[in-house]
Amino acid sequence: MKRKRKLLVAGAGGFIGGHLVRYLVKRGYWVRGVDLKYPEFMKTRADDFRILDLRIAKNCLKATEGIDEVFQLAANMGGIKYITDVRTEVMRDNVLINVNMLEAAKKNRVSRYFFSSSACVYATYKQKEADNPGLKEGDAYPADPDNEYGWEKLFTERLCKNYYSDYHLNTRIARFHNIYGPYGTYDGGREKSPAALCRKVAMAKNGGKIEIWGDGKQARSYCYIDDCLIGLDRLMRSAYRDPLNIGSDRIVTIDKLADIIINISGKKLTKVYNKSKPQGVRGRNSDNSLVRKALKWEPKIDLEKGLKATYYWIESELRKRTPRRARG
Ligand SMILES: NC(=O)c1ccc[n+]([C@@H]2O[C@H](COP(=O)([O-])OP(=O)(O)OC[C@H]3O[C@@H](n4cnc5c(N)ncnc54)[C@H](O)[C@@H]3O)[C@@H](O)[C@H]2O)c1
Repeated sequence: MKRKRKLLVAGAGGFIGGHLVRYLVKRGYWVRGVDLKYPEFMKTRADDFRILDLRIAKNCLKATEGIDEVFQLAANMGGIKYITDVRTEVMRDNVLINVNMLEAAKKNRVSRYFFSSSACVYATYKQKEADNPGLKEGDAYPADPDNEYGWEKLFTERLCKNYYSDYHLNTRIARFHNIYGPYGTYDGGREKSPAALCRKVAMAKNGGKIEIWGDGKQARSYCYIDDCLIGLDRLMRSAYRDPLNIGSDRIVTIDKLADIIINISGKKLTKVYNKSKPQGVRGRNSDNSLVRKALKWEPKIDLEKGLKATYYWIESELRKRTPRRARG
C-alpha cells in the first residue's frame, strides 16, 4: 500500500489552521496539528494533535519530526487594534516561531514548506486612497509596512527565500488578504472586522445602534475561507516560489461591509462612527493578475454569500451563550 504523505499544520488550533486540517484529512493525508491550544469552536480531525510552544526550538524539532510537508500558520496575531497596540510581543514571538520552524524543517529534511504571510507587508505609501486598485506582489518594495506584524512577515518571506537558496528547503509563500468565515474568533480583542461586525449586528436590538471604527470610508477586500484553502493547496502543489496574493480583488468600505451584514440580519440599525479607534491604512486591495496566471486561481464565493454563512454561525454561537430568558 502507498504510504500516506505526512503533513504538519502549525497553528492548527487557529482559524485557518483548523479549517486546513479538515481540508487535508478529507483529501487522504495523514495530518499532525500543533498549537498552544485546541481549536475553540470545532473538533480537530488531525491524526495527531500536540500542544507545543513553537517559540522554542526543540518543540519545532518535535513538531516536524517524520513530516514530509509543513504548513506554517502559527502566529501571535489579531485584528487591527491588537496588531497596532501589541508590537514587541508580536514581532518577538513571530520571529522566534518562524526562525525555529524553518531551521527545524531543514534539520528534519522536510520536502516542502508553506509560510503564511500577509497583505500587511505592503508599503503604506501605496495604500493612502480608499479606492486602491489592487496591490501587486512587487508593491511590497521599497519596504514600508504599516505595522510591526507586517515587518516580521516581510523578514520571514526573505528568510524563506534564503533557506531555499542556501539549503534547498522548498518554500511557498502566500500573502493572505483578510480571510474570513465561520469558526473564527469573533470577540476578545483578536477578532477581525467581518467577525467583529457580525457580532455587533447579532447582539444589537432591532432599531438600535452599532459602532463602526474610524469614519467607515477605509476599504479592504475579503476572501472566504473555502476559496483560501483551494488557493493554498494549489500554491503548495505548484512550482511557484515567490510570494503570491491569496485574496479577493473586490474592495469595499467598512461602511458597505456593515450594510451587507445588517441586511443579512434583517434588522434596522444606525451606524455610529468612532474616529478614536484604529483603522489602519486607508485602502487595501489584492491584485490577482499574477496568482490567476501562476495558479489558475481566483476566489469564487461572493462576499454576500460568505458573510451570510459567517453571520449565521456567529449568531448561533452567541445564542448558545445567552440564556433563553435574557433573549426575550
Ligand atoms: N486570517 C487572516 O485574515 C490572515 C491574514 C493575513 C495573514 N494571516 C496569517 O495566517 C496565519 C493563520 O491566521 P489565522 O487567522 O488562522 O490566525 P489565528 O490566530 O486564528 O491562528 C494562529 C494560531 O497560532 C497559534 N500560536 C500562536 N503562538 C503560538 C506558539 N508560540 N506556538 C504554537 N502555536 C502558536 C495560536 O494559538 C493560533 O491558534 C497566521 O500566520 C496569520 O498571520 C491571516
